[in-house]
Amino acid sequence: MSEPHKPAGTLASVMHEERMFPPPRDFSSRARIGSLEEYGRLYDAARKDPEAFWGERAAALPWTTPYERVLDWQPPHVRWFVGGRLNVSAACLDRHLAAGKGEKTALVWVGEPLGERRTLTYRELHAEVCRVAAGLRRLGIRPGEVVSIYMPMTPELVIAMLACARIGAVHSVIFGGFSSEAIADRNHDARAVAVITADGGWRRGAQLPLKKNVDVALEKSPTVKHVVVLRRTGQPVDMKPGRDVWWHDLVDGMPADTPPEAMDSEAPLFILYTSGSTGKPKGIQHTSAGYVLWAQTTAEWVFDLRDDDLFWCTADCGWITGHSYVTYGPLAAGASILIYEGAPNAPHEGRFWQIVEEERPTIFYTAPTAIRSFMKWGPEHLRGRDLSSLRLLGTVGEGINPEAWMWYHETIGGGRCPIVDTWWQTETGGIMMSPLPGCTPTKPGSCTLPLPGVVPEIVDAHGKPVPRGEGGWLVMTRPWPGMLRGVWGDEERFVDTYWSKVPGKYLAGDNARQDGDGYYWIMGRIDDVLNVAGHRLSTIEIESALVSHPTVAEAAAVGRPHEVKGEAVAVFVTLRGGEPGPALEETLRKHVRQQIGALAVPDDIHFAAALPKTRSGKIMRRLLRDIAAGRETVGDTTTLEDYTVLANLRGNDE
Ligand code: WTA
Repeated sequence: MSEPHKPAGTLASVMHEERMFPPPRDFSSRARIGSLEEYGRLYDAARKDPEAFWGERAAALPWTTPYERVLDWQPPHVRWFVGGRLNVSAACLDRHLAAGKGEKTALVWVGEPLGERRTLTYRELHAEVCRVAAGLRRLGIRPGEVVSIYMPMTPELVIAMLACARIGAVHSVIFGGFSSEAIADRNHDARAVAVITADGGWRRGAQLPLKKNVDVALEKSPTVKHVVVLRRTGQPVDMKPGRDVWWHDLVDGMPADTPPEAMDSEAPLFILYTSGSTGKPKGIQHTSAGYVLWAQTTAEWVFDLRDDDLFWCTADCGWITGHSYVTYGPLAAGASILIYEGAPNAPHEGRFWQIVEEERPTIFYTAPTAIRSFMKWGPEHLRGRDLSSLRLLGTVGEGINPEAWMWYHETIGGGRCPIVDTWWQTETGGIMMSPLPGCTPTKPGSCTLPLPGVVPEIVDAHGKPVPRGEGGWLVMTRPWPGMLRGVWGDEERFVDTYWSKVPGKYLAGDNARQDGDGYYWIMGRIDDVLNVAGHRLSTIEIESALVSHPTVAEAAAVGRPHEVKGEAVAVFVTLRGGEPGPALEETLRKHVRQQIGALAVPDDIHFAAALPKTRSGKIMRRLLRDIAAGRETVGDTTTLEDYTVLANLRGNDE
């Protein structure tokens, strides 16, 4: 187990960023929200009368039954648009057809193999979603049942999500980089009745064995009765008669006008598993009306969406960013989205900039880890590329270091594009804090100010607000439409994780500080969650995976700073058998890859005779973090049970 949380309010901030960038005048003059006064007016309105504010914005949703009440808040439980019924796929598709936007491009897709490209208009996307929805209905999938989606970033991934929404099934997208163990766990926890997958997917020229991984997972997830398989790479797969059906056979002859299921506002739209501070990933549950309204509204505000924009969010739909800003937010807003299937360095390190030159997106939203990779790969991959289509840049997933921010601003944005550093979480459903590009002066490294409807506070361990300038726990004091509604099948964990430490307020799990201008600076997690390349991993998940290997007695995982990934995974293991050395390191890496997936594979493996522990037996991660980072231990070691352990660990490294 971990050492006790570092008390909030005692965090010293080491960031002193003085630079400030006002929004370009010509950007502001055309922006949806073009001045701080306008932002302030919206912010105050949402704060004073949230029901009126959100009621006004919900009016444009395609209700089939009007709601009776905007908000019912019984902390920690919230209901938005109580009693209303609608369908989220209709909010993303049908209402745009009804508004005469059927011929507008909904989606431009670029495959990883050079030259592959497809586009779909809103009418075409609607038709595809309807066919798949009808096919899923014919398989017998009912509203409220869970469908896992394990697919490469193809248009069909977006179509599969919307098709589930159309029939009221709850989707659970599993990132294509996860292993069969991870699929089985998620299928089992959610009691999924079907899996939608593909034969394979392209990743840096190699074919991911997606269907094969599903086959292995299904040996352990008996709730799954149907598997739908998209033919993507053409690699050979086994099809199990009675269980497996090809996507193209499923949709064959299906109608292009399947009526949407009218769902309750609060009916679950999806669950998405994310790492917490225990070994078991939790299924974060989002609902229909509130979620889609939040995704759309925040997309419109933060990305200043206009009718002629082409919005490129580089996230995979396996993460929340791909849910809210590839699929639901932009499509509900009627925008055109750009999707790229593959890796940024396939087949060369300039692939993203080639895509920008060819497809001419206007908005580009990516993760700091990607930006650091581009910096490392060097400017030659950008030379001669025309990036002039871009007007706005965004980041998400972790804090962006000011150097990377400046590089992004100058090299990609040509000094002319505002940058929105967006802070949010799987749990929040959509962006919570971010500059508004037409009005908020930005400071590199700060996510600046809360969006209208978001009322944050920074508190100490007693729940008391800390003085301005001091660090503490970030909490939300008011409900917002996109907030999580629960942890799938685990009410206790929902209450315990988010609502018990500071009663009545949502605990985000991040430390933060507010500067003299009221700007927010995120200072990292308060729990044992690592942020590796913008992806959340729990240390305990990695430890459990290691300990499940017969040679490992005990394991501790910590993060250490990494130039590109933000954090790298370092593990300390004590052995019960086997010989420490490169061969066993390889075996353990392979084991973690099998248990969780490639992104959890440790970068460093330290074999140790013992791990440093407190007298009560807790592993002292703080010390391990120092060792992993090659730092001197400055912290308190007086609770260390056996001083020689630390000396030995350091000795091992030299
Ligand atoms: C971190 C991703 C600093 C934070 C949408 C949060 C950030 C966790 C930022 C959520 C940012 C995300 N600045 N930190 N702009 N954005 N984080 O659930 O620690 O994958 O709690 O959602 O990422 O990660 P998640």
